Amino acid sequence: MASVRGAARELNRTVGHIDALLHIAAVFTPRYQKTADGLELMLATNHLGPFLLTNLLKDRLTGGGRVITVTAPSTTRVEVERLLNRDRFSALHSFGATKAANLMFTFELARRAKRWDVRANAFHPGVVRSELMREASRPVRFLSRLISNSPERAAQDLVDVALSPAFAGTTGWFFKGTRRIDPPKPTLDVGQQSVLWKRSAELVELEGAGF
Ligand SMILES: NC(=O)c1ccc[n+]([C@@H]2O[C@H](COP(=O)([O-])OP(=O)(O)OC[C@H]3O[C@@H](n4cnc5c(N)ncnc54)[C@H](OP(=O)(O)O)[C@@H]3O)[C@@H](O)[C@H]2O)c1
Repeated sequence: MASVRGAARELNRTVGHIDALLHIAAVFTPRYQKTADGLELMLATNHLGPFLLTNLLKDRLTGGGRVITVTAPSTTRVEVERLLNRDRFSALHSFGATKAANLMFTFELARRAKRWDVRANAFHPGVVRSELMREASRPVRFLSRLISNSPERAAQDLVDVALSPAFAGTTGWFFKGTRRIDPPKPTLDVGQQSVLWKRSAELVELEGAGF
């Protein structure tokens, strides 16, 4: 989180307005690993980092900024205390939960950010050839290589969603490519979205800042 705060400080100092903030970075790790803050690595990288960065950049995004979080249609239930608990760690469960958290964060942000004229959308690139599952088991790697598409198309779609005037007013959507799709039902629970937001704010010590 220190590096996220550092990046936000730098951007707040040097950038006037942010048109689009794209959360793409993610990790998958088969082992329970902790960050310097004592947070589980996938939760910290895939969800809490983007959560903190977005909130710290509120003033730069105000007035038409777009926040786009790259994720997948995960149905995994998000229970933060389980994700932090080493004894209950399961790699695929934790990874899936962070991707569901990306969706829940987006929908809560879309509601909260309206008064600052900021949009929040989630983006599913489809199954894309990448390095993400390099530490997954051999069958998972084999299967994902078999069904994956080239990254260029996914990148083009993401740029369209981020910059096209056609989506300038769009908020709270889940895109697959440039089309709207239905998010998994569990991610639409407004009560759970709010619980996740509050717990995330505590974990990153947001302390009243942000959306
Ligand atoms: N591939 C798919 O089929 C698929 C499907 C649905 C959604 N997605 C989503 O697409 C996004 C991109 O994934 P990808 O498939 O392109 O995987 P990838 O090739 O592994 O790319 C992930 C990127 O995240 C960066 N990253 C990881 N931890 C970071 C950290 N702590 N700080 C800064 N950068 C960090 C990595 O940088 P380094 O290489 O320098 O570590 C890497 O460039 C992810 O959010 C993923 O969940 C992918």
